[in-house]
Amino acid sequence: MASFRVAKAASLPPGKMMGAEVEGQKILVANIDGEFYAMGSVCNHMGGQLDKGKLEGNVVTCPRHGSRWDVKTGKLVQFPEPLPDEPIFKVSVKDDEIFVEKRA
Ligand code: FES
Repeated sequence: MASFRVAKAASLPPGKMMGAEVEGQKILVANIDGEFYAMGSVCNHMGGQLDKGKLEGNVVTCPRHGSRWDVKTGKLVQFPEPLPDEPIFKVSVKDDEIFVEKRA
């Protein structure tokens, strides 16, 4: 596992998310009630940018056609058709820096 620094923890308050890129993979990092989570940010429907969508609790809504995803699990919450899970990543915080782990 390799760890990548993505942001300062203080720059991402609860209820907010941001886009990041880890080794060419687009992800979103969200602060949900003080805990940080990371999930793939390219929508598995038609590639919408999930980090540009709306975060409500632990659910993000795709800005393109409204699919809804659980940021904690990467699972689809709501959409008319089934879609594969988004990848999720382990997140840690050290010295106010957010790190995302990616399998080597
Ligand atoms: S691209 Fe995300 S719902 Fe269509």
